[in-house]
Amino acid sequence: MGKGFFISKGVGVVCIILGAGAVATIIALSVVYSQEKAKNENHVSPTNGATTPTTSKPPTTTTTPSNNPWDKYRLPQSLVPEIYNITLWPRLTPDPKTGLYIFTGVSSVEFKCAEETNLILIHSNKLNYTNYENNHMAKLIPLDSGSKAPSIVSSWLQNETQYLVLKLDSKLMKDHRYRLHTTFTGELADDLGGFYRSEYKGDGGKKIVATTQMQPTDARKAFPCFDEPAMKAVFHITLIHDHGTVALSNGEEKETRIVSIGDQTLLQTDFEPTEKMSTYLLAFIVSDFGYINNTIDNVMIRIFARKSAIEAGQGVYALSITGPILKFFEKYYNSTYPLPKSDQIALPDFNAGAMENWGLITYRETALLYDEAFSSNGNKERIATIISHELAHMWFGNLVTLRWWNDLWLNEGFASYVEYLGAHEAEPEWNVKDLIVLNDVHRVFAIDALASSHPLSSKEEDIQKPAQISELFDAISYSKGASVLRMLSDFLSEGVFTMGLRTYLAEFAYGNAVYTDLWKHLQMAVDNVGSGDLPGTVHNIMNTWVLQMGFPVVTINATTGVISQKHFLLDPDSEVTAPSPFNYEWIIPINWMKTGDIQIRRWLSGKTVESMKLTGSDWLLANLNVVGYYRVNYDQGNWDRLLEVLSTAHATIPVINRAQLVDDAFNLARAKLIPTVLALKTTKYLGKETEYMPWESALNNLDFFYLMFDRSEVYGPMQDYLRKQVIPLFNHYKNITDNWAKVPKGHMDQYNQVNAISLACRTGHQECQTLTQAWFKQWMDEKINPIHPNLRSTAYCNAIAAGGAKEWEFAWSEFQNATIASEAEKLRAALACTKQPWLLNRYLEYTLDSKLIRKQDATSTIVYIANNVIGQSLAWDFIRAHWSYIFTQYGGGSFSFSNLINGVTKRFSSDFELKQLKQFKANNAEVGFGSGTLAVDQSIERTIANMKWIADNKKSVLSWFKAEAKLL
Ligand code: BES
Ligand code: ZN
Repeated sequence: MGKGFFISKGVGVVCIILGAGAVATIIALSVVYSQEKAKNENHVSPTNGATTPTTSKPPTTTTTPSNNPWDKYRLPQSLVPEIYNITLWPRLTPDPKTGLYIFTGVSSVEFKCAEETNLILIHSNKLNYTNYENNHMAKLIPLDSGSKAPSIVSSWLQNETQYLVLKLDSKLMKDHRYRLHTTFTGELADDLGGFYRSEYKGDGGKKIVATTQMQPTDARKAFPCFDEPAMKAVFHITLIHDHGTVALSNGEEKETRIVSIGDQTLLQTDFEPTEKMSTYLLAFIVSDFGYINNTIDNVMIRIFARKSAIEAGQGVYALSITGPILKFFEKYYNSTYPLPKSDQIALPDFNAGAMENWGLITYRETALLYDEAFSSNGNKERIATIISHELAHMWFGNLVTLRWWNDLWLNEGFASYVEYLGAHEAEPEWNVKDLIVLNDVHRVFAIDALASSHPLSSKEEDIQKPAQISELFDAISYSKGASVLRMLSDFLSEGVFTMGLRTYLAEFAYGNAVYTDLWKHLQMAVDNVGSGDLPGTVHNIMNTWVLQMGFPVVTINATTGVISQKHFLLDPDSEVTAPSPFNYEWIIPINWMKTGDIQIRRWLSGKTVESMKLTGSDWLLANLNVVGYYRVNYDQGNWDRLLEVLSTAHATIPVINRAQLVDDAFNLARAKLIPTVLALKTTKYLGKETEYMPWESALNNLDFFYLMFDRSEVYGPMQDYLRKQVIPLFNHYKNITDNWAKVPKGHMDQYNQVNAISLACRTGHQECQTLTQAWFKQWMDEKINPIHPNLRSTAYCNAIAAGGAKEWEFAWSEFQNATIASEAEKLRAALACTKQPWLLNRYLEYTLDSKLIRKQDATSTIVYIANNVIGQSLAWDFIRAHWSYIFTQYGGGSFSFSNLINGVTKRFSSDFELKQLKQFKANNAEVGFGSGTLAVDQSIERTIANMKWIADNKKSVLSWFKAEAKLL
């Protein structure tokens, strides 16, 4: 705990000696405070106050697009920030008259002039400034003795590009330093971006938390700043807050003292200066939260959350794994964690899953809080991987930062790869590293196989506007990034990969880099140990994966011995528009196994390569453990032999590759490279399979069959076939759990138990339905929940689907009273399972009322409803009717919008739906789709592919299911 962190209320007003800077700050804040008060008394909104007389237009605007520096989204290179001093005072009570929550702030930034200029551009968004005696929004002071600061001749806010613009009467001099002062006000809105407000119900009613989410471009919504990742500086932060609240920021608390502002006594917490860092990693939080802590090797680790959650022990798991994961990354990176503390805080309202603010990581509650009585093994795994992901960023991203957002894929892709390594360290029994294949590789294959995909790397000049930056946070950056880095680490060997990584971090610590800098260091490591069998430089090999979209399908003809590659497109008729620099050829590391034992590696760098021929009953299986970012196809003979091995000795094939065979086969079939019936045949051995990964892979693929056929005559025979396939698995789990009384031992087994129950119930297995309904009824009758947390999601969903309003209302009230977010989350998803249209429509309406469904959860709730065959069209009507509201309220700022559009349209497979989708795109062109922009095109492409697929496959699929259902 930091010195002077708590001050008891009984201390009374202590005589404090304030430094001159602090006195000035307090005076400035109190000026803003009284002005705000006066304005509020006059019913003037703080966001439109009289304190900012200047307009938001430059005095000399022209109507034609201009080349003025303030019309460009990127900052000029003329000024380099060095040190900021920022004091912020968020109000946790609304103004009684306006009802608005606000914050006030005073900031100064010291910068060096790198090129002479008479213009200061500094980012600022939705802030109102108090004018200084010079009648302008800022005051400029020279810092070099003897030098004189130019005078500000005009100042205004440039809304579109989000700048505070200051024109000077003469030039700032090269290599001279200056300090810029500002005093400002902003709204502490519930908009999940910048300095924002989160609310929750605590002891004694509504509680308010002031917190931040800066990434990518919202630091400028909290204070004026040079808001680009390469503009690193040192930040001195001070927060003013009420008694009984705790203030947190990136640095350790230096001192908390009592101060008086106007007629109020408050606390002022000063923080230790930060390391040299980017603005997007800053965090400021004021709350009445509790915490638990421990110290490992002089690093203080704390978990903060609502007091009742801390008291219930919900932070204990996170605390127990943070230290080990942090130590793991210190070793992995060969770099000591540079801060004295690592805080992690669970927030009731949070847009993303978590955010890697340096030293103060923020989470949504489900991503940090664990309670054995409520949380499933899936919840636990999410906590471990997300903590690991964010801690990985403390070095990769925070210590060394990519120069501009176009390289975001490397930052997020890297963390998304190594999160598995860190989580494995914390939970070595789980085999969590295998799951990257399902969660990232297979997941992103589905998107990267579309003609509307895009390369990992973007050009710096193509990424300018905040909306363009937000769009980069997509599955390509995260999951393809993770997949190709895993492949790279594998073909270099982990030793070489970490060697290069370590020198990269050492060279660029506290600075910025571009992705090719990492390649350079990996190449140095390769050269150090000898290049082995690499067919080119790291740069050359990786260019084929990074600069072109998509991935190859490698075809192995075991009879002729020829291996070849081709761009894998889900719709073979689609045209890829942008010509790729490499003509859709990749340099591919291939490894394979022959008939269960020998492993061979080689490279495919042209169109084809000759390899070995097979004879007799030998078979070949390539891409072992799916370390390569490609799919594999074989000649019919090899496929037949692989199917034979699956049905007679499936354990000969590694479990990850069993999952791969299913996923590759289904997708090759969708791309018309193999018959759909061959793909369906890979599911025939499942009656004997008990492992999670192949089952999960099959379910993911069969999900597509459900989406396409659950409104057609294929549905019945498909259900009959799948029911017969899953009953052995259902019985297996019934046996090993003593009739559902125990929990299976292994992590993956626990997952597969859920699969067994959910598919058995979904296919109408009576025993399963009776079981889940009885559990739910027992809960309703006895008010004690008998269902194990692992099984709750599926049990709730089935019982609510089978039930009516009574079950729904019960679940809704349990949702509202849930004391842990992961329980609320399970109920929120299950509420979408009802078959009653009126309940679904009412539930959709609830998503517009943040008192019922938090803003952070609105879009995922709509997607849950769309997943339900009955809710799909209701959800589609709903988002069309409310698009502009949904878009403006729930922001285009994160993954949620692409999930929303993909989620609501993924069942589309008719001409009518395609027309509606295109109409939707045209109608909302002006409002926009934010982070869902690409998803609209992807959905159109998917709809067309689905239509064709159904036309081509319905007949054969129907007769296959019919025949198999009869046979079994
Ligand atoms: N930097 C991101 C959080 C973020 C996402 C900020 C989008 C702004 C826009 C963070 O490191 C992250 O990636 N979080 C993930 C979790 C992770 C385990 C994939 C998230 O929020 O889901
Ligand atoms: Zn991340």
